Amino acid sequence: MKALLLIPALLLLSSATHAQIEQMNERWYSNQDVHKGEKVFQQNCASCHGNKAQGVIKDWRAELPNGKYPAPPLNGSAHAWHHSLKALDGTIQRGGIPIGGTMPAFKGKLTRHERLQAIAYFQSLWSDRIYQAWLKRGGLKP
Ligand code: HEC
Repeated sequence: MKALLLIPALLLLSSATHAQIEQMNERWYSNQDVHKGEKVFQQNCASCHGNKAQGVIKDWRAELPNGKYPAPPLNGSAHAWHHSLKALDGTIQRGGIPIGGTMPAFKGKLTRHERLQAIAYFQSLWSDRIYQAWLKRGGLKP
C-alpha cells in the first residue's frame, strides 16, 4: 500500500536525466505489493499467462488456428517491458478484445491497486537489466 502511494512521487522524477534514472536501483513497489500481486495474478492471469508469468503456449509469437495470438509471457522474456506502467495498466483495464485479441478487460473487476500489484508481481520476475531498460524507455513516465 505504502509503496503504491509513492508512485506519484516517482512520476515526478520523469524529468530526471537518464544517468540519474540509471542510478535508481530501487524498484517502485514493495515486497508486500509483490506478495499481494502474486495472489491477484494467480487468481486472474495465470490460467493464460502461466503461474510464473512464463506463458503457457511456448510459441507465443505464432498465430493460433483461430487467427488469434496466445498470451505472451510477462516475465521479461517478451515485450511487456516495452510498455510503461501506465500503458500496462491500460492494457489490463481494456483487455485485448477491442484490438482484435482475446484477453478479457479487468476494468471494474480489479481495483487500480490490484492491477498495479499484479504488475509488481510480474515485474519482480524481471532481471535488473530488463528493469533498467524499462526505466530508460520511460517506464515510470506519466
Ligand atoms: C483469457 C486469457 C487471458 C487472461 C485471463 C489474461 N490475459 Fe493478459 N493477455 C492475453 C492475451 C491473449 C494477450 C495478447 C493480446 C490479446 O490477444 O488480447 C494478453 C496480453 C497481455 C499484456 C500485454 C503484454 C505485452 O507484451 O504487451 C499484459 C500486460 C497482460 N496481458 C496482463 C495480464 C494480467 C495482469 C492479467 C490478469 C489480471 C491478464 N493479462 C489476464 C490473455 C489473457
